[in-house]
Amino acid sequence: MKVPNAILHSLLILSTRLHFISLVENQSLSDLTISSAKLTRVPPTIKNVLALRNVTFMICKIRTVDLADFCDHSLLVKLDLNSNHIRYVVNTATRHCSLYDSLKSLLLYSNLLTTINLNMFSAFPQLSYLTLRNNKIKTLTHTFGHSALENINLGINGLEEANLCDWSVPNLSRLSFRRNQLTNLPSCITIFTNLTVLSVAGNGLANFSIESLAGLDKLQELELEMNSLTSAVLTSDLFPKDLQTIDLSMNNLTEIDLSYIPVHSLRVILQSNAIERFDLNNTSPNVTTLEMAYNPIDCSFSTPLERAMKHVDCGKNRI
Ligand SMILES: *[C@@H]1O[C@H](CO)[C@@H](O)[C@H](O)[C@H]1NC(C)=O
Ligand SMILES: *[C@@H]1O[C@H](CO)[C@@H](O)[C@H](O)[C@H]1NC(C)=O
Ligand SMILES: *[C@@H]1O[C@H](CO)[C@@H](O)[C@H](O)[C@H]1NC(C)=O
Ligand SMILES: *[C@@H]1O[C@H](CO)[C@@H](O)[C@H](O)[C@H]1NC(C)=O
Ligand SMILES: *[C@@H]1O[C@H](CO)[C@@H](O)[C@H](O)[C@H]1NC(C)=O
Ligand SMILES: *[C@@H]1O[C@H](CO)[C@@H](O)[C@H](O)[C@H]1NC(C)=O
Ligand SMILES: *[C@@H]1O[C@H](CO)[C@@H](O)[C@H](O)[C@H]1NC(C)=O
Repeated sequence: MKVPNAILHSLLILSTRLHFISLVENQSLSDLTISSAKLTRVPPTIKNVLALRNVTFMICKIRTVDLADFCDHSLLVKLDLNSNHIRYVVNTATRHCSLYDSLKSLLLYSNLLTTINLNMFSAFPQLSYLTLRNNKIKTLTHTFGHSALENINLGINGLEEANLCDWSVPNLSRLSFRRNQLTNLPSCITIFTNLTVLSVAGNGLANFSIESLAGLDKLQELELEMNSLTSAVLTSDLFPKDLQTIDLSMNNLTEIDLSYIPVHSLRVILQSNAIERFDLNNTSPNVTTLEMAYNPIDCSFSTPLERAMKHVDCGKNRI
C-alpha cells in the first residue's frame, strides 16, 4: 500500500492483510494508526513522515523494535506498539535523536519481551509513561535511573522477585506488578516516596504488614487483592499518611484487626476472604468504608448509619 502525499492529519488503517506499507514524504500527518495487519517490522519509510505525534502499530506481527527508526521524529510524543510479537527493543542510533526530547509515552503491552534493558530509556528524559504489561519478563534491570518516569506498568509478567534497591526514579507515582509471581513486596519499595498507587495484586504474598510501606506518605491506593494472604497487620503508627484505599479482597484472611488506623479516612476492601470473627465495636472510626461481602461474617458499611446498624448484628453470610 502507498500512502499519498496529501494534507492528512490523521490516518487509520484497519486491515487484516496489509503486510507492506510505503510512506512518501508528508509534512502534515500527525497521527498514524495501523491495526490488525501483517506488518513484521516498522516500515523504514516512516522516516518520510516527520510530523508524527502519535504512532500506533497494534495487532500486527512486528518482532523487533529499533527506536532509531524514529530518530528524527522530533514531535513524536506517543509510540504504541501493543499486541505485536516483539521480543526485542533496541536503539541502534549512534547520534543524538530528536525523538529523545519528545517521547513521553511508550506502550509495549501484550508482546513477547522476556527482558528489557531499562537503561536504554535514560536517553529519553521526557519519558513519563512506560507500559510493559502482559509480556514474559522474568528479570528486571538491576540499576536504573530516570528522573521523569511517573508510571511504570509491569503487570502480567513472570517476575518472581523485584529488587528495586538500585533504582533511582524519584518521580515514580504509579507502579504495577499486578499478576506476577512475587512472594514478597519489591525490595526497597519505600525509596519511592512519590508513589500514589502501588499494585501487587495477583501475586503470591502470604503475609503483609503496613509497616513495610512506612514513609510512603503520598500513597493513596494499595492493591493487594488476589494474593494468598493469611495475615495482614494494619495497626501501626507507621501507616502511610495519605492512604485512602487498601484492597485485600480475594485473599485467605480469617481475621483482621482494624482497631487502630491512624489516617483520616480509609476504605478497606476485604471481600472474598474467610473472615469468621470481626469486632466492629473495636474498629477504628477512621475506617469509613468497609466492604466484606463473601466472608462467613459481613460487617460491611459505607455510611455512619449503616455502621451503627451493623453494631447490633453483623449478620452471618450464607455462603
Ligand atoms: C495523541 O495521543 C494523546 C494521548 O493518548 C491524545 O491525548 C491525543 O489526542 C492524540 N493526538 C492526536 C492528534 O490524536
Ligand atoms: C515530575 O512530575 C511532575 C508532575 O507529576 C512534573 O511536573 C515534573 O516535570 C516531573 N519531573 C521531571 C524531572 O520530569
Ligand atoms: C518527588 O517529586 C518531586 C516533584 O516531582 C521531586 O521534587 C522530589 O524530589 C521527589 N521525591 C523524591 C523522594 O525523589
Ligand atoms: C511472611 O512471609 C515471608 C515469606 O513468605 C516469611 O519469610 C515470613 O516469615 C512471614 N512472616 C510472618 C510474620 O509470618
Ligand atoms: C485459601 O485456603 C484454602 C483452604 O484453606 C486453599 O484451598 C486455597 O488454595 C487458599 N487460597 C489461597 C489463595 O491461598
Ligand atoms: C484516627 O486517625 C487519627 C489521625 O488522622 C489518629 O490520630 C487517631 O489515633 C486514629 N484513631 C484510631 C482509633 O484509629
Ligand atoms: C457493640 O456495641 C453495641 C452497642 O454498644 C452492643 O449492643 C453490641 O452488643 C456490641 N457488640 C459486640 C460484638 O460487642
